[in-house]
Amino acid sequence: MNLLEVNNISKTYGKGETAVQALKRVSFSVPKGEYVAIVGESGSGKSTLLNMIGALDTPSSGNVMIGGKDIFSMNDRSLTIFRRRNIGFIFQAFNLIPELTVEQNIIFPVLLDYQKPDKKYLEELLNVLNLKERRNHLPNQLSGGQQQRVAIGRALITRPSLILADEPTGNLDTQNSSEVITLLKEASKKYEQTIIMITHNRSIALTADRVLQVSDGVLTDLGRCRE
Ligand SMILES: Nc1ncnc2c1ncn2[C@@H]1O[C@H](COP(=O)(O)OP(=O)(O)O)[C@@H](O)[C@H]1O
Ligand SMILES: [Mg+2]
Repeated sequence: MNLLEVNNISKTYGKGETAVQALKRVSFSVPKGEYVAIVGESGSGKSTLLNMIGALDTPSSGNVMIGGKDIFSMNDRSLTIFRRRNIGFIFQAFNLIPELTVEQNIIFPVLLDYQKPDKKYLEELLNVLNLKERRNHLPNQLSGGQQQRVAIGRALITRPSLILADEPTGNLDTQNSSEVITLLKEASKKYEQTIIMITHNRSIALTADRVLQVSDGVLTDLGRCRE
């Protein structure tokens, strides 16, 4: 079964002469567990597409199915809960809470959902993300790479079936970028999660199972991009 189905999504920002058609009838599907990279020039519509998949913005037409559910047919409350339980977001800016420790930042989405953190899973994540020794540190005591690993932990703690990442290594150097991607990939394979990741970095795109390219709002499947 496909975990994600994007059907004929179009998005126009603004009206009349200043209208921008950011997405033009975009369709694709992703089976459970697949790791997809999205590439394309700046301004081509990548973030718009990812924001639609995560229901952070609504399309002008078309629909998005996640796990067989039409996300835009849900009311706001159901959608908020669905998003919190099924989707993990990772952005270029780490967006950690400065007053909270590494561990507290990671379990934050669980507390938001009025649940108890799974201690065993938290330990496992701290291990996989190589953050065990930093669990009681504050974000400003960490390197950029470590901060992004915390953000990944925060995205994974709810065991989402879908991980959406918008240039997650945009603020990292090459060494940290490849570490972060390796960890994200390992974690997602282990827990059978689907990843949709926007990246500017060609060598990172090559680590994906499949590459999609957005060009002026139009999506093309580049297939498996192994060299
Ligand atoms: N909220 C918005 N209002 C108006 N135009 C927008 C908005 N968000 C994005 N756009 C426009 O839509 C196009 C695609 O933007 P975006 O999806 O951010 O591209 P990318 O992520 O590939 O750099 C651009 O022309 C951008 O200026
Ligand atoms: Mg963008």
